[in-house]
Amino acid sequence: MSQSPQAWAAQRPENALTLPSRYFYDPTLFEAERERIFMGAWHFGCHVNELDRPGAFVVRDIFDQSVILMRDRDGELHAFHNVCQHRGNRLLNETRGVQKGVIRCAYHSWCYGADGRLKAAPRSDRIEAFDVDDYRIPPVRLQVFAGGVYFNLDPDAADMHELFPGAEAAIRDAIPDLDELRLIQEDDVVVPANWKVIMDNSIEGYHFQLSGPHHVDLASLIDFSGYKLRHHDNWWTYGAPPNREATEAYGAPIGRPVEDGDGFFNIGLWPHNTFYQFPFSQCMGTFMIIPLDAERSILRFGYYSAHDRDALPEVTQASIRWMNEDLGPEDIELNVTTQKGLRSLGYDQGRYMIDAERSNESEHLVLNFHRLVHRALHGEDGAEA
Ligand code: FES
Ligand SMILES: [Fe+2]
Repeated sequence: MSQSPQAWAAQRPENALTLPSRYFYDPTLFEAERERIFMGAWHFGCHVNELDRPGAFVVRDIFDQSVILMRDRDGELHAFHNVCQHRGNRLLNETRGVQKGVIRCAYHSWCYGADGRLKAAPRSDRIEAFDVDDYRIPPVRLQVFAGGVYFNLDPDAADMHELFPGAEAAIRDAIPDLDELRLIQEDDVVVPANWKVIMDNSIEGYHFQLSGPHHVDLASLIDFSGYKLRHHDNWWTYGAPPNREATEAYGAPIGRPVEDGDGFFNIGLWPHNTFYQFPFSQCMGTFMIIPLDAERSILRFGYYSAHDRDALPEVTQASIRWMNEDLGPEDIELNVTTQKGLRSLGYDQGRYMIDAERSNESEHLVLNFHRLVHRALHGEDGAEA
């Protein structure tokens, strides 16, 4: 029998037991997460430079919702639901592009501006008291934060600067050319695992030197003794300075003196947005975990660089390939086998391996992340149903 929510919430980190396994597969708990976490979460949509001209758009889906992010002719950014106000047809079916002129619904040609306002509807002049102003597509909350365009389905969501104080400075400090980044590539992988299984795997260094060979390779590119995992309320960072002895990375020669900014940097923004920079790579990676259901998630690997796609430094190119073909799959395999194990009748709660020093191999970020989940579901002390 697992602990009650109150007993779980009251644990000391040093001897705490993990979230009971049902939190990773129970559809009812997932439904509660959907409502209490994701429907009010800030979702990374794209880098602001992806919307660099009038009509440029990115479409993002979360569960059964689809949102259009678009720049208008005056340079303003807008987010609105991806749905025609006539009979509900979905408007845009591509992920990104540039809309020349109006957005025209493919069904009966209702036409919308880049701000979601209805501009024209065929035959509407023959319809009693038809006013285009009555059929604006409902807007969605949008915020530009640290070079990213985010949206939130909750119109009353708190401002990101309030939710993540200090996070923008941390990102800018680690990635000074943040504003110059352009999308290099984006790859979606459907992983048969709960979204938390994937996040848990990404926020601990315990498995770095103990799991597969590509993890050991990554550990060799950093000064692992300087690996630090820091928790700040709704966001967290983990990373390490570069290994100054390294001469090659990801199978490519580094070919230049090692600089301070060559370290490994990761930052997570509650609940599911992660940005990182690999050692010696001049590229920001995004690692977005987009839940589909209790046991499936989309893992979206985005790569952004200030260098042109065809002029990427060799190590940077190699780092992208290595993430997609080596490290990523090595972690995904662990996520898949963990998801299977969590279903076992022979497992319910394990032990967080949290040491007093909160060292480089300690699992304190996993506990902190689970506490945020638990708080969203059961309240601060676990007393809510
Ligand atoms: S559903 Fe879009 S115009 Fe009819
Ligand atoms: Fe890993």
